[in-house]
Formats: sequence, C-alpha cells, structure tokens
Amino acid sequence: MAMTKPIDAKSTLAWSDLKDHYKNYQADLRDWFDTDPARAERLSYQAGDLFVDLSKNLVTDEILGDLVRLAYEVGLPERIEAMFSGEKINVTEGRSVLHTALRRGPLADIADADRLHVDGQDVDADVEAELEKVAAFATKVRKGTWKGVTRKRIKTVVNIGIGGSDLGPVMIYEALAPYRQAGLDVRFVSNIDPTDVAQKTADLDPETTLFIVASKTFTTLETLTNARLARTWLLDGLTKAGAVKKTAASRKAAVRKHFVAVSTALDKVADFGIDPKNAFGFWDWVGGRYSVDSAIGTALSVAVGPVAFRELLAGFKAMDHHFRTTPFHQNVPVLMGMLNIWYVNFMHAESHAVLPYAQQLHRFAAYLQQLTMESNGKSVRWDGSAVTTHTGEVFWGEPGTNGQHAFYQLIHQGTRLVPADFIAVANPAYGLVDEDGDGGAVKPGADVHELFLANFFAQTKALAFGKTAAEVRADGTPESLVPAKVFSGNRPTTSILAPALTPSVLGQLVALYEHLTFVQGIVWGINSFDQFGVELGKKLAMEIAPAVSGDDAALNAQDASTRSLVSKYRELRGAK
Ligand code: F6P
Repeated sequence: MAMTKPIDAKSTLAWSDLKDHYKNYQADLRDWFDTDPARAERLSYQAGDLFVDLSKNLVTDEILGDLVRLAYEVGLPERIEAMFSGEKINVTEGRSVLHTALRRGPLADIADADRLHVDGQDVDADVEAELEKVAAFATKVRKGTWKGVTRKRIKTVVNIGIGGSDLGPVMIYEALAPYRQAGLDVRFVSNIDPTDVAQKTADLDPETTLFIVASKTFTTLETLTNARLARTWLLDGLTKAGAVKKTAASRKAAVRKHFVAVSTALDKVADFGIDPKNAFGFWDWVGGRYSVDSAIGTALSVAVGPVAFRELLAGFKAMDHHFRTTPFHQNVPVLMGMLNIWYVNFMHAESHAVLPYAQQLHRFAAYLQQLTMESNGKSVRWDGSAVTTHTGEVFWGEPGTNGQHAFYQLIHQGTRLVPADFIAVANPAYGLVDEDGDGGAVKPGADVHELFLANFFAQTKALAFGKTAAEVRADGTPESLVPAKVFSGNRPTTSILAPALTPSVLGQLVALYEHLTFVQGIVWGINSFDQFGVELGKKLAMEIAPAVSGDDAALNAQDASTRSLVSKYRELRGAK
C-alpha cells in the first residue's frame, strides 16, 4: 500500500491549541504540586516493568491532553499499525520497518493465524531459524567446543562493526556485565583509527581469538578495513606460532575457524573468506540502529548466553505490546515522544539529556544518539517536501553522578531548556556497604546504592523546584551572592525506575526509546528509517584519501579550505 502523505502537524487543531497554551501559560511546578496533591500519582505510568513519572514535566493536564490529540490528528495510530504489519513505511528505500518482528517469538508461542508474512517471506519462521543458529554458535563458543585452528578453545571474541553494528552490542554488553560468562572476554572494535584495532588485539593470542565481523551491508569502510587488519594480525600471529603455513589452503582454513560474520549480504561475507555456514543473516527491513536484537547481537549471545538473549527479546516484545495496544493517554512511548514535541516545537529546546543513574548504562546515551539523531535528524518529509517545524533534538548524556560534577550546572542554571530523562534501578547488581561512613551524614553501614539514588531524587527535585531568592537569603547568604545562588526550577525531568537491570528490563528500555523516536518522526512527517545524511561525507572521504596520501592532482582538485588543511597535514606528517 502506498504511503499516505504526511499530515502537517502545524495544520491540525491540536497544534493551534498547543500554541495557545504556550502563549498563555507560565510553568510553575511548585505551585502545580502544591495545589494538586494527586499530580505525581496521576502523571505516573507503568509500562511493563518500567515505572515512568512524567509529573515533573512542564505540562498541565490540558497540554498533555492536546499533545495526545495531536498524536491522533497526525494519524499516529495508523502509522503504528503500518509499521507493525510490515507496510513499506521506509518509502525512500522502499522497505518495511520490522525490527519489532525480531522479537515476536518464540515461534512456538505464535498462533498460525497470527504469523507474519511480508512479501512472501515467513518472517516469524526466518527470525526463529536465525536466532537458533546464533544460539547454537554462541553455545559452542561458551562451552569451548568451538575450537580455533590449533584446537584451542576461544577465550576472546572481538566484534568488528560500527554504528548500529557496534553501539547497541557495546551498550548491552556493558549493561549486562553481571550476566557475562567468566573467562570469556568480548571486545568491540569500531573506529577506523588504527589505534582501535591495535589496542584491542595487543594482548591477545590469535590461537584463542575469534572475530565477528558485523555489518549489515558488508561494505562499510571502517568495518571492512578493520576486518582485513584483524585477518592480517591473525594470520601473521598464527604463522609465527607455526600454526599456519603460507599456503592459501592453510590460511583459508585458519580464517574459517577464527572469523564469523553477521550481515544481510551473505555473498560478500563469502568473498571475504568466511565460511557461509558461519554467517548469521538478517534482513533489509531491519535498520542498522534498530538491529541489536537481530543476529547483530551475536556477540551478546556469546557473552550473556542465548537464554539471557531471549529474555532481552522478551523485554523488547513487552514494550512493543504496550506501544501497540495501550490507549495513547496511558501509552508511555507516545507520551514521552509527544512531550519531546512540546519541548522542541513549542518551548524551543534544542537538546535532550539522558542521565542513567546506573553505571552499567554508561554507553546508553551514545547508543541513543544514533537511534534518535540518525532517525530524526532530517529536513524533508517522507514525500520529499520540506519539514514545517524543527525536527530532531540533540540527545546526549552521561551517567549520574559523574554528570553532576560536569555539566549539570548548565541544566540547573543555564539559559537553555534541557529536558532530561533520569533512569535508575531499585536493586543494583553490586550492592556495597560503606562500613565506616564519613562521620557525618553518611552513617556507618550505609547502603551505597541508596546514597547513589538519593542523588537521583535530589537532582530531579532541585531541577523541578529550584531555590528562591528568599530561601537563599534564609541561608544567611550575603546579598551580593544571592542572584548567583538562585535556582529558577521548572527544569523538566522524566524519571524512569525499574526493579533491576535485567535483560528484560533493558529490552523494555531500548524499545521505549525506539518507539518514542518513531512517534516524534511521525509528528514531523519524516521517514525515521533512512540515513542519507551520512553518505556525502563517506563519498568525499574516498575522493580525498589520495590527496592525503600524496597525490598532488587529487589535492589540487579540492576546494581551497580542504587543500590548505590537507597540505598542513602532509607537512606535519613529513611532506608526503
Ligand atoms: O553510516 C551510517 C550507517 O549506515 C548506519 O546506519 C549503520 O548502523 C552503520 O553505518 C554501519 O553499517 P553496516 O552495519 O552496514 O556496516
């Protein structure tokens, strides 16, 4: 079915009502909570295991109601159904968008009548088969029955990939640290900066190292270059150890034992020398940044095991179900996405902070940056017309409390509005107690996680309610310092609390952000599933590469600015 024209959000009645609200309103969280004791409870929601408190956002019930109306008026319900059912909503690439199909299983739980078929493909069966293939491989590596060419068991798995073939796996690998198998190290190489591959392989033994080359397209410059570097490193090392002869057959056998791949381009995998039996596939209807729950997660399946990987998928599925079936006024991805619309399009916010109070989520913001910004950093709508509003905001963040000692100053007292999501779990993986205390507020035997979360609650409180000049004066502050010590408050936050950072909770969290990204894209009328904006730089890099390497004709073909910079580089390298 052809994609309908985007509905211009600005032409809706809800949009004009929201504009009126914005003109006439003054956010006052202190007053709102004082005069409405039920606000916290009313604006808190449950989505799967996630408790999501939206009450410290700068909206009244009327505004939130109109944001929900806007979601209906731009046709979000139809778009959600179009996505889940496999319509080709990625119109610029002519593809379905079916990352949600990666987690519909296990196959045995899907009734025959509910099986998803798209373009003649039995999607559920294919997904299950690939998952099983990945699980069998992961189990072999974990049990040590997968042997290297010298019959030694694998001790280190190195995932080579970039963007969606790296950020999701890294983020989840870090987040699920307590679930990893001891004695089996997993590393990630992404950058074409040779430092990355050099550092990550420096202390490794080729005989016990296995590489996973993860690339949807199997054409990505960084990944293919790193894969070749790794292959050379492997073969050199094995040759030195006398484990490989210089014959093509011997080298080929070694590569087959030490390289596997994940890709949609299985022919290219074979060309690289990887045994097609050890290539795990996925499909063009999975965007790179939405692919961590496909075979792209093979390194994860190795690290945490196929059972935990299935639990991760179950978490994604729970949030998919919530998103697809919950009325919008209770639907957390819809509400969070629409709040972001409020901040970007009405309150002129340019960025959004994501602040996990969970060290295990220290790569979560980096992961979200690709998810949100590669999806929604667009200036044209899905029919090619120009957008009529601002689109994707800048997502960024670091875990608390580290961020508190770095950039929170700006969030508290700067001139810009930075909506922030605070994320925490109640039960930590590592519960430590401070036996000694500090002789003051920190009592001996203090549970350090409680101290940690006190910071979470304190920050959201400080951001919401601030500190008035009168309160600052009441502390005995000299008058000259009063203005500098005032906190305006009314700085919006969303608080997300989960029982513990289990694979399922993590899946729910990731799917929550996937879906709110989709919601925002629909309001803006953009295709959140292409990424043409990354192409130009890639192409130019290939044109500039000869100039960098000493080709004067190529250098002279550059614009004056690039010519000057490259010349300076060549001079610094010793006049190539
Ligand atoms: O350059 C951007 C991008 O295409 C991302 O969308 C993708 O996740 C990444 O490159 C890696 O692509 P591939 O998995 O095909 O190597």
